[in-house]
Amino acid sequence: MYINKVKKKHRASELIRKNQEKFKCPVCSEPMYLNNFYSLTCSSNHCFDISRKGYLNLLTSAYSIVYSKELFEARHKVCDKKFYDPLIDEISKIIHKYKRSTGGEKELDILDAGCGEGSHLYSLSQRISGDLKCNMFGADISKEGINIASNNSSDIIWTVADLTRLPFENRSFDVILNILSPANYLEFERILADEGIIIKVVPGQLYLKELREAIYKNKNYSNDKVVDYFTSKLEVVYVQNINYTFSIDEELLPFLIKMTPLTWGENIKGINSSHEIDISSITLDLTILVGKRK
Ligand SMILES: C[S@@+](CC[C@H](N)C(=O)[O-])C[C@H]1O[C@@H](n2cnc3c(N)ncnc32)[C@H](O)[C@@H]1O
Ligand SMILES: [Zn+2]
Repeated sequence: MYINKVKKKHRASELIRKNQEKFKCPVCSEPMYLNNFYSLTCSSNHCFDISRKGYLNLLTSAYSIVYSKELFEARHKVCDKKFYDPLIDEISKIIHKYKRSTGGEKELDILDAGCGEGSHLYSLSQRISGDLKCNMFGADISKEGINIASNNSSDIIWTVADLTRLPFENRSFDVILNILSPANYLEFERILADEGIIIKVVPGQLYLKELREAIYKNKNYSNDKVVDYFTSKLEVVYVQNINYTFSIDEELLPFLIKMTPLTWGENIKGINSSHEIDISSITLDLTILVGKRK
């Protein structure tokens, strides 16, 4: 166990060293470099240690918790059952196509902004790292999420960071993923390479509709505002809707209920157990938006 942690930290340190020029100090915005092998430091000596599990905590202040450890564990369990696989397959195709269009030999730098417990980026790494050379970064404001993400033995740099103030240099990423998470387009454009793309995934009207109906009793949902905002900020180069149903067994149902954000709030608290919800399959309805600088 101890040896594994040492190996993990060592591997993380090597990856961070290879990519150290992409980081900027979250306190003073100066460039950062790897000091004494296990900490990232700027010229003003602001210092961030690599954790035992190999991730970097680059937050400079505490934030109020919206997503609990329980929620991330439930999302992890649900993702493990290949719940989002059709989505990840499509994102993988988009990235391959993008890479072909750029033609170059340069390694792709990919950031998942708001990566949560990391399953999507990990699944993506399994699909693309074999045939595409890339450097992958996950960033989330939740330490609970990144702590789970860093359990995977993958070559991904996991960071606790605020996507409204990302600790990365200008124009340092070719692809920014933003899956079911808040966005900050000013920051995304700042760190996006000139010809880079932003891949945003938003829930469609029918996303988890069986669960919504059980909890909200037919409350409607529209993603129009989020899509309009994306369109106002970026040139949309591709849009794709993905719609499928997924079978839910008794074992998975409680995790599906728990993985929904607390913003579903009060209504969910009234449901004391999964026996009060009778769902055998659930609808996934997702929209992938791909944009680049206007
Ligand atoms: C609904 S979860 C989605 C997580 C993951 N992309 C997924 O699909 O499973 C939204 C995520 O956004 C993260 N988040 C919210 N505000 C953030 C911020 N300012 N900076 C970074 N992450 C943020 C939350 O911590 C949470 O992990
Ligand atoms: Zn600094």
